[in-house]
Amino acid sequence: MICLGIEGTAEKLGIGIVSDDGEILANVTKHQPLVTGIHPREAAQHHADNMRGVLESALKKAKLDLKDIDLVAFSQGPGLGPCLRVAAVSARTISLINDIPIIGVNHCIGHIEIGLLLTDANDPLTLYVSGGNTQVIAFDSGRYRVFGETLDIAIGNCIDQFARAVGIGSPGGPIVEKLAKNGNYIPLPYVVKGMDLSFSGIYTASVNAAKHHKIEDVCRSLQETAFAMLTEVTERALAHTEKREVMLAGGVAINKRLQKMLSAMAKEHGASFFVPPRDVLSDNGAMIAWVGLLRHKSGERQDIEDTAVKQRFRTDEVDVKWK
Ligand code: ATP
Ligand code: FE2
Repeated sequence: MICLGIEGTAEKLGIGIVSDDGEILANVTKHQPLVTGIHPREAAQHHADNMRGVLESALKKAKLDLKDIDLVAFSQGPGLGPCLRVAAVSARTISLINDIPIIGVNHCIGHIEIGLLLTDANDPLTLYVSGGNTQVIAFDSGRYRVFGETLDIAIGNCIDQFARAVGIGSPGGPIVEKLAKNGNYIPLPYVVKGMDLSFSGIYTASVNAAKHHKIEDVCRSLQETAFAMLTEVTERALAHTEKREVMLAGGVAINKRLQKMLSAMAKEHGASFFVPPRDVLSDNGAMIAWVGLLRHKSGERQDIEDTAVKQRFRTDEVDVKWK
């Protein structure tokens, strides 16, 4: 069975084609070029304009024709409404044209399951960090449970907004990582509340600090402080859940400093540490296709009427029947 997955939660449009034995036949992503923040309607227009091209290049890469697709999956949420709707409408169209089943996928679970497919992790505690999400997740009693999360903005959003506010470019993640290498530490607000995190204070403090400190110093301190917060919460969740594996997922997981801090923490607890391959850390269609296959193979079916998008689709809403 071959599944085509459409990812469109934010500014990236991705189409992946995956077979039911877990082979990724194609995984094509097109980014909307961003100068300012994401504008939902413009991002949706970008996806609509590029859907055909991305679909054609994914099929070409997989050496397949649309009629070879047996199942179509799409990112049902969480994400920006207008973007989600473009992905959903496209998936419904393919489902109707080919007369094949359609299945909606929780985007956050996509990030985890593609990691399980492509690493040796089996049952990890996952730190999922991206532009729109920050969650510490582990599987327990039939669902992916959230053990800690941000109370306001996501870590990726915090870094990206900071980078735009101080004029060092977009997206901020890789730029801040590079500048941080030559910086010295200055104190910034460290906000962990129980098992949850808050990044809005450190964002404002970093923008203010950049007015009278070297940009390298602020970048270093923003990373050190925010990543220490993430590591603390992940460490406590690890002690609580007694998992033996730690996995990093999401676009911010590309950051080498974060990888190093998490892996040192995991090592201290005798847990194995995993980072999925870089091309599946960012949003992509293959992760959506793969979860679509897992759901379908476990007997789940969805009617077109049940494919409305869910902007606030929570990780812990999904009954995980495939495990
Ligand atoms: P989601 O819908 O899951 O929130 P997203 O739209 O933010 O995802 P991702 O590709 O998962 O997309 O993540 C993008 C984020 O990753 C951006 O905030 C970007 O700055 C960040 N990022 C990319 N590379 C790095 C890096 N080297 N260091 C830190 N952050 C990074
Ligand atoms: Fe994502």
